[in-house]
Amino acid sequence: MQDLSWWKDAVVYEVYPRSFQDSNGDGIGDLNGIRERLDYLVDLGIDTVWISPIYPSPMADFGYDVADYCGINSIFGTMQDFDRLLEEVHKRGLRMILDFVPNHTSDQHPWFLESRSSRDNPKRDWYLWRDQPNNWLSHFGGSAWEFDQKTQQYYLHEFLKEQPDLNWRNPAVKTAMFDALRFWLRKGVDGFRVDVMWLMIKDDQFRDNPPNPGYHLGQGSKERLLPIYDADRPEIHGLVAEMRGVLEEFGDRVLIGEIYLPVQQLMSYYGKDLTGANLPFNFQLLQCPWNAPDVAQVIADYHDALPDGAWPNWVLGNHDKPRIASRVGAHQARNAAMLLFTLPGTLTMYYGEELGMCDVKIAPEDVQDPAEKNQPGIGMGRDPERTPMPWDGSPLAGFTTGKPWLPLGPEHDQCNVEALRKDATSIYALYRKLLRLRRKHPALANGTLADVKAEGHVLRFLRGSGDKALLIVMNLGHEPVRTDVDAGSIVVSTGMDRDGERVSGSTDLKSGEGLMIESR
Ligand code: GLC
Repeated sequence: MQDLSWWKDAVVYEVYPRSFQDSNGDGIGDLNGIRERLDYLVDLGIDTVWISPIYPSPMADFGYDVADYCGINSIFGTMQDFDRLLEEVHKRGLRMILDFVPNHTSDQHPWFLESRSSRDNPKRDWYLWRDQPNNWLSHFGGSAWEFDQKTQQYYLHEFLKEQPDLNWRNPAVKTAMFDALRFWLRKGVDGFRVDVMWLMIKDDQFRDNPPNPGYHLGQGSKERLLPIYDADRPEIHGLVAEMRGVLEEFGDRVLIGEIYLPVQQLMSYYGKDLTGANLPFNFQLLQCPWNAPDVAQVIADYHDALPDGAWPNWVLGNHDKPRIASRVGAHQARNAAMLLFTLPGTLTMYYGEELGMCDVKIAPEDVQDPAEKNQPGIGMGRDPERTPMPWDGSPLAGFTTGKPWLPLGPEHDQCNVEALRKDATSIYALYRKLLRLRRKHPALANGTLADVKAEGHVLRFLRGSGDKALLIVMNLGHEPVRTDVDAGSIVVSTGMDRDGERVSGSTDLKSGEGLMIESR
């Protein structure tokens, strides 16, 4: 029997809650704001909303420093607001995924306050305390160890010192954290995106990491060492399977893991007999150079490496990486959209991609992200991709009535939902159409993928299901090209100006142009 898990043909839309819609004029987005915009998401055509952390937090890392896993941050609203949002999400036939941040808590979490209060506190061992630090480095710069004056030991923090790492080898930690998952699952949340899944377990002997021979100046200081002992440890897979088991207590929910690892290692997170993460996030498109041979290689390598029965997934952007339109340019952003929606599996997009939203240059006095503050000027900052969603052309873009927590993009008077909705050939119109085609053609979500190749600057591949075949061709280069095609008709072109045109033998592709061609 076919496995019909809902998440297999889902298109996940990441909402960064601080930047989506403010409903109370404090310049920061909130839950009621998201609720007000649900009909926009329905009309766009996505089906699953993933909301980045909304829990109580001192916001040292903008919510990825959790002080209570079962609460709602008053910046975002109340638990009643959350319940109402979830109800409205489900009423519309959408699903909701929450972020779960298991590697570390806030240093203000009551567990850590207890843990650091004395060496013999029962929660001392909930975190990783040592008499001496080893050489491990923080992802946000500097040592991963902080000395605690009062108790004269060091604690581990893979990120900020305000984000102490939990000790997942301690069964009590596991119980408490799994109960937090159950709290939200009982409310009806449809799954979790698990933060830094591959970092959760560290070497039990705390061995030093070896130097990275490939390190060069200009990289973040974490890159000086190879993360052999503080990441991707063998014991992680048992833990992920247990976490999956918690979700399975509640039926068909989805476990997505944030994992930045090379493809072969990534695949191990599907787990033995696929008992691990349903979807280890596939970030290959966030990192690969934008040219036909590289993209073709990435697609082929990923599919070759997928374990039997494992479900693929593709991601175009998130709150930690430069926006796709800035990375590849406005023209190619349309090809990127066509690529995403024509690849097999579960898809994830980031709010604003449907507007061709770009990174916004942040003046030094406006910098918020600790990653930039700690290591300025080398591109570590993530504020540029976290700026408010532009809803209309008014001075505050319909996002807020107050002062936005990050500046709006300079083009928001043209690049906004209201304006792009009126333009039948806009990138927004393209996203909307691609989302509808994804639903209409079974070949796209779970048909076969074949003949992935690069011919010069043209990337091409075939999707099939039954007697239907869809040929995708896209010009990733900067010059027009002529390319071979089978006889058929264009279902959609990235310019939204050739739909319905019949082609046969060969056709011209403008720079940045992509076509989906249906043949029988
Ligand atoms: C993940 C999050 C990122 C956060 C980090 C620490 O990578 O996506 O935003 O800073 O974990 O929690």
